[in-house]
Amino acid sequence: MIGLLAFDPALTAPGAADAPFRPALPLAELPAGTMRRVTFGDVDVLLAHTARGICAVDDRCPHMSAPLSIGSLDGCVVACPLHSGRFDLESGDVVQMPTTGGLRPDGAYEPVWSPPGREPREDPPGIKSEARRLTRIRRFRYYPVRVAGGVIEVAVPA
Ligand code: FES
Repeated sequence: MIGLLAFDPALTAPGAADAPFRPALPLAELPAGTMRRVTFGDVDVLLAHTARGICAVDDRCPHMSAPLSIGSLDGCVVACPLHSGRFDLESGDVVQMPTTGGLRPDGAYEPVWSPPGREPREDPPGIKSEARRLTRIRRFRYYPVRVAGGVIEVAVPA
């Protein structure tokens, strides 16, 4: 029996609760510890076979939308290839802030990354710094998943 990752129903992707299940990938092509992108129309979905089961979220980093599918997965934690942010797919928590700093999901500000033991770097003034400071990490949006006949199916709005 393949486990599915439980998620907070309040974080279901818009329209996904009533969407039909669609075939996404043969289960055999998503071994434990791996991730894959599957695309439905213009929606890119990340399928992740975490230590707690399979889940489907947007294949967009909750920070600045980089494809998580080319990052790495360690247990339930996915690491983004762009700014080294790490996010827990089970809880949705930020495990490691992106190196750019910015806002956590609750709005708390984190400075730009600096090596351990050093003072946080001064962010130079300018519109790009302001954009980094004001970028808030969003919460994952989950798509319902099931396995039927050896195929992973995902509920994605048409
Ligand atoms: S886009 Fe993923 S950490 Fe910035």
